[in-house]
Amino acid sequence: MTTEDLLNKASQPATQDTSRPPHVNAQDYARMYAESVNDPDAFWAREGKRIDWIKPFQTVKNTSFAPGNVDIRWFEDGTLNVSANCIDRHLETRGDQTAIIWEPDDPNKEAALHITYKDLHTSVCKMANVLTDLGVSKGDRVVIYLPMIPEAAYAMLACARIGAIHSIVFAGFSPDALGARINGCDAKVVITADYAPRGGRETPLKSNTDTALLHCKDSVKCLVVKRTGSQTTWTDRDHDCNALMASASDDFAPAAMGAEDPLFILYTSGSTGQPKGVVHSSGGYLVYAAMTHEIVFDYHQGDVFWCTADVGWVTGHSYIVYGPLANGATTIMFEGVPTFPDAGRFWEVCAKHKVNQFYTAPTAIRALMGAGPEWVEKHDLSDLRVLGSVGEPINPEAWNWYNEVVGKGNCPIVDTFWQTETGGHMLTPLPGATQLKPGAAQQPFFGVQPVVLEPTSGEVIEGNGVEGVLCIKDSWPGQMRTVWQDHERFEKTYFGDYKGYYFSGDGCRRDEDGDYWITGRVDDVINVSGHRMGTAEVESALVAHAKVAESAVVGYPHDVKGQGIYAYVTLMNGEEPSDELRKELEVWVRTEIGPIAKPDLIQWAPGLPKTRSGKIMRRILRKIAEDDFSALGDTSTLADPSVVDDLINNRMNRS
Ligand code: WTA
Repeated sequence: MTTEDLLNKASQPATQDTSRPPHVNAQDYARMYAESVNDPDAFWAREGKRIDWIKPFQTVKNTSFAPGNVDIRWFEDGTLNVSANCIDRHLETRGDQTAIIWEPDDPNKEAALHITYKDLHTSVCKMANVLTDLGVSKGDRVVIYLPMIPEAAYAMLACARIGAIHSIVFAGFSPDALGARINGCDAKVVITADYAPRGGRETPLKSNTDTALLHCKDSVKCLVVKRTGSQTTWTDRDHDCNALMASASDDFAPAAMGAEDPLFILYTSGSTGQPKGVVHSSGGYLVYAAMTHEIVFDYHQGDVFWCTADVGWVTGHSYIVYGPLANGATTIMFEGVPTFPDAGRFWEVCAKHKVNQFYTAPTAIRALMGAGPEWVEKHDLSDLRVLGSVGEPINPEAWNWYNEVVGKGNCPIVDTFWQTETGGHMLTPLPGATQLKPGAAQQPFFGVQPVVLEPTSGEVIEGNGVEGVLCIKDSWPGQMRTVWQDHERFEKTYFGDYKGYYFSGDGCRRDEDGDYWITGRVDDVINVSGHRMGTAEVESALVAHAKVAESAVVGYPHDVKGQGIYAYVTLMNGEEPSDELRKELEVWVRTEIGPIAKPDLIQWAPGLPKTRSGKIMRRILRKIAEDDFSALGDTSTLADPSVVDDLINNRMNRS
């Protein structure tokens, strides 16, 4: 799109609060976007100065998407420390300001905590000393498996201070998944807690960790935070975090890290095989997280920002911890769930802490919409200014409810499209700059050059009113750098299908105005309640069960979750299908991966539709799961076309 098109289009901004103009208005957007793609060196040289550098960078962008030579470097000769940027540089100006408001799972049992930047400094230094004493140094990996408690942020920032690389494992993952990640990145230490309270229930994190560690090297140490104080087992490898922090020094000099040194690894699901360790950098990532946080949410000094995600996902990394803290914000860390103790919890927290920007997932909005507007209306939400959505396309009904019932028609909704791999927002409206369209992610953020490709030929589709797969033409600073110790997999996964482009895995439409609409994944990744799940992972968990011969997993539309998990299961010869076995398999997958991977529907499949070469025809399975078998397409190439009739007759998702 030309600058002129952008200016025309942007002539009707969504909101103009004259008492507090947005950081970026429509004209700024057009001008800045044009510069960001026409002269990225000048643009990012300026934006790179948002953060403090120990040694300033001279080189800005040095990136290549060339086949066989994908290499991404930003600010490569600069050095910095991420924790110093998130803490130390704020001490003089806002040491006594609240950095983190911690909101516990059960508000009737515990009070919120207000942690100032000074407090944060003390705790992070102490934790860094504790980790150092356990043998952690620059470049070592530390796995974090914690509830949503302040120690999770301390641990992340302590690693960053030392220059160690953290890898957070969502507390809902099973011991097996945890063990695989500890081994995958060869972690020296795993940090966990006794229990994780959530929605009034407690997950035994410490005993999960013990189980995981049975499959890990003896040398891995376990640092245990006391959360509930309930009883746990204790072994020789365990260290008491609370006791060690109490006696540790509150001073720790931040290490000078190269801009390209990894800040963290985060495992995420792909279309094939086991989860990949997505590696993010220190410099480019932080610049991008900080900038998107400030501009996309139109964050102003003194605002209270709440992202409801868990730090186990990338959203929590970028928009609970790194982005907000780099900007000296007050960020909320919420331990609970939207519906506990009741369906008004989100709104009660918004009112209590006078939240200005609220960021959540469509699945939560749909669940709360179902509970009724009265839960929202009970609470004073007059401080809300910007609402955000992330994780999956938001349906217009949920968008309207969010806009009218929560935002009272006064709060722009930023529908932010991005991925674990992208580090920060890629396509999003900007408050005060974009004329909003319910359900559209709309415009590229600065430096992001989206292209729509024809899926089969890979040709670029120009013009508006078109649809295809979403790729990105050039690098942006928040981009992942590699897959942990597998650069070849990185190249193959993201640059293998469409040479010279980063392939998102999503389909998209560019409408007549040039706005982007994400149409969902085009690969075998499903999005369950905004959480990414590879169908291959669920399949391999199912076939690991002794009674299962084969399985195929697909997504299907689900009213609240967005997508549900639909599993076709072929049993071993001689095994009989039964409701008990179905339950057993559900529990099995929960234990193998975690509750988020539990199939919603399991269909017994005497056979799966396969081509003569043995490839499962997933397209057919997806259609049957969607309860739409009118257009199954050509089934004549199947080895045994009759299996399709059986699957249709016994389908589980009948409307
Ligand atoms: C989907 C989450 C539509 C998309 C930050 C993407 C979205 C995957 C949106 C990444 C959105 C995320 N509209 N779809 N606003 N945001 N997605 O890695 O399919 O957990 O590829 O990162 O979520 O999920 P991930």
